[in-house]
Amino acid sequence: MNVRTVLIMGASSGIGAGLSSYYLGLGFKVIACARRAEQISLNLPRAIGFPLDVNDFEQLEDTLNEIVRSTDRIDLIVNCIGIGELNPSLDSSLDASMIETNVKSFTLLSNWAYNLFKKQGHGHYAAISSIAGLRGGKDSLVYNASKAFQINFLEGLQHKAAKENKSIFISDIRPGLVDTAMAKGEGLFWVMPVEKVVKQIAHGIHQKKRVITVTKRWRLLAWLFFLVPKCIYFRL
Ligand SMILES: NC(=O)c1ccc[n+]([C@@H]2O[C@H](COP(=O)([O-])OP(=O)(O)OC[C@H]3O[C@@H](n4cnc5c(N)ncnc54)[C@H](OP(=O)(O)O)[C@@H]3O)[C@@H](O)[C@H]2O)c1
Repeated sequence: MNVRTVLIMGASSGIGAGLSSYYLGLGFKVIACARRAEQISLNLPRAIGFPLDVNDFEQLEDTLNEIVRSTDRIDLIVNCIGIGELNPSLDSSLDASMIETNVKSFTLLSNWAYNLFKKQGHGHYAAISSIAGLRGGKDSLVYNASKAFQINFLEGLQHKAAKENKSIFISDIRPGLVDTAMAKGEGLFWVMPVEKVVKQIAHGIHQKKRVITVTKRWRLLAWLFFLVPKCIYFRL
């Protein structure tokens, strides 16, 4: 049987952990990485775990090479790594860590994934951005801006793949609020269970969709969120 191999980056909790379980359940070979590798061994014992800190630039290349050497090929990479903090007081140290993880390291990983698939001749790279990237957010300026960066970057990568290699697919996954450690703040609404979000993401990946907004309810809200004029948005 042709066992498909998926690399889940950011697999120690939340959506990445959910996707790892889902693909293990389908019989995929799952390679899972994050800083908390012990969580991966504990919760995903059938996955091949690697400790990885994307912001440790001295170690990153060695770890990525080690992952590649551990398998004959990788069919799908799902990048679930991200951090998000509300920052209403504009604390620059909080901003710096979000820029490092969500912009600098995101760029390094995405470039690496594309080049790996180019060398391999095929592959699907799916990365989680967010609906938050569609508008500025008064209490989460840098988080929203970092997600806008990811959305724009992934569109560029799709354009590049369409021109250069028709066997490379790029998906931009945009969740609404999901019930993970990341969802913070008072009065959150429509917080979606991880299992439901995981199923819809996997379905979108299977269909090779370029943009996967989850869930269906959040797709409608994302559309309204994007279109609402500033004179109304600024009153919210
Ligand atoms: N939850 C939501 O409402 C929501 C909505 C829209 C978009 N998103 C996006 O969805 C993605 C997944 O978030 P989540 O909700 O599943 O939250 P989560 O449970 O906090 O997952 C984040 C994952 O990223 C990993 N990570 C963070 N920094 C890392 C680093 N320096 N090196 C390696 N791995 C690192 C974490 O693992 P370690 O800490 O073990 O390293 C963890 O596995 C994020 O990009 C987030 O922005 C979430």
